[in-house]
Amino acid sequence: MLVKAYLSDRYPFHLRNTKLSKRILGTNIVCMHPSSFRLLVYEYVDNGNLEQWLHGDVGPISPLTWEIRMRIAIGTAKGLAYLHEGLEPKVIHRDVKSSNILLDRKWNAKVSDFGLAKLLGAEKSHVTTRVMGTFGYVSPDYASTGMLNECSDVYSFGVLLMEIVTGRSPVDYSREPGEMNLVDWFKGMVASRRGEELLDPKIQVPPPSRALKRVLLVCLRCIDMDANKRPKMGQIVHMLEADDFPFRTEPRPQRDMAMFRAGEDAGSKAPSVN
Ligand SMILES: Nc1ncnc2c1ncn2[C@@H]1O[C@H](COP(=O)(O)OP(=O)(O)O)[C@@H](O)[C@H]1O
Ligand SMILES: [Mg+2]
Repeated sequence: MLVKAYLSDRYPFHLRNTKLSKRILGTNIVCMHPSSFRLLVYEYVDNGNLEQWLHGDVGPISPLTWEIRMRIAIGTAKGLAYLHEGLEPKVIHRDVKSSNILLDRKWNAKVSDFGLAKLLGAEKSHVTTRVMGTFGYVSPDYASTGMLNECSDVYSFGVLLMEIVTGRSPVDYSREPGEMNLVDWFKGMVASRRGEELLDPKIQVPPPSRALKRVLLVCLRCIDMDANKRPKMGQIVHMLEADDFPFRTEPRPQRDMAMFRAGEDAGSKAPSVN
C-alpha cells in the first residue's frame, strides 16, 4: 500500500512518497478524507517505474524485450483512454512520462501520479495560467497557449512511446547537439528513411519490420503539430494492438493518411516508414 496526502482541492500539494506500508491491501484503493485534507491510498506496485527500466543500469541487454515494451505501451494507452474516455468529467493527467508509469512483476503498466491531473467537464479545453508538466514531454501547443485538453496527454504519450522504442530520454544533454531532443532526432531519422536505426540497441531480438513501422507511425501521429489531428487514446490502443494496421490492402481512408502528414513536418516528402 502506498499513501499520498493532498492538502488542497485544486492543485494538490504532495507530501511526496509518504509510503506508510509496502504491503498490498487491495488494488487501487482511493480514500478521501472528509475534511480538506486528502489521503489517496494506492496499491504498492512492486517492480519499479518504467524510467528505471529504460534508463537505469540494466546491462548491455535490456530485460524489456520488444513484446514487453509493447505490453507496457498498450497498458499505458489503456489507462489513459480510461481517464479520457471512460470518466465524466474526464481526467487530463498532465504529467505522462516514464517515471509515472509503474510496473508489476508481469510487466503490467499502471499510470500513476495524479499530482497535476485536471478534471475537464463539458468544455472542450481549459485555459491554465501556469503550464505544468515535465520538460521534453509537454506538447508545444499547451506550452505556448496554456490551452489544456486530452490532446496534450496524447502528445506526451507519443514522446513516451518514442522513449520506449528508442530507449532514449526525451532530452539528453550527453548526446551530440542534433540528438539531444528525442522528438527532433526521431522525426529527422524517419524523414531520412532511417527508422530501423531508431530501435533501442539494448533490444536483443528486433521486432518484424512492419511491427516497428506501425509503432513509429503511431508516435508520429501522437505528436502531430495540429493537436486536433492527434488520435484519441482509444484509437491508439487499437492501432497498437492491430496486427495489420496500417498495412491493409484496400485503399487507405483519409483518416489514416494523417500519420504520413505528421512525418512531413520533419522536412521531407514522406517518412521512410511507409
Ligand atoms: N503505488 C506505488 N507503488 C510503488 N511505487 C510507487 C507508487 N507510487 C509511486 N511510487 C514510486 O515513487 C516515485 C514517485 O512517485 P510519484 O507518485 O510519481 O510522485 P512525484 O513524482 O510527485 O514525486 C515513482 O516514480 C515510483 O518509483
Ligand atoms: Mg511522478
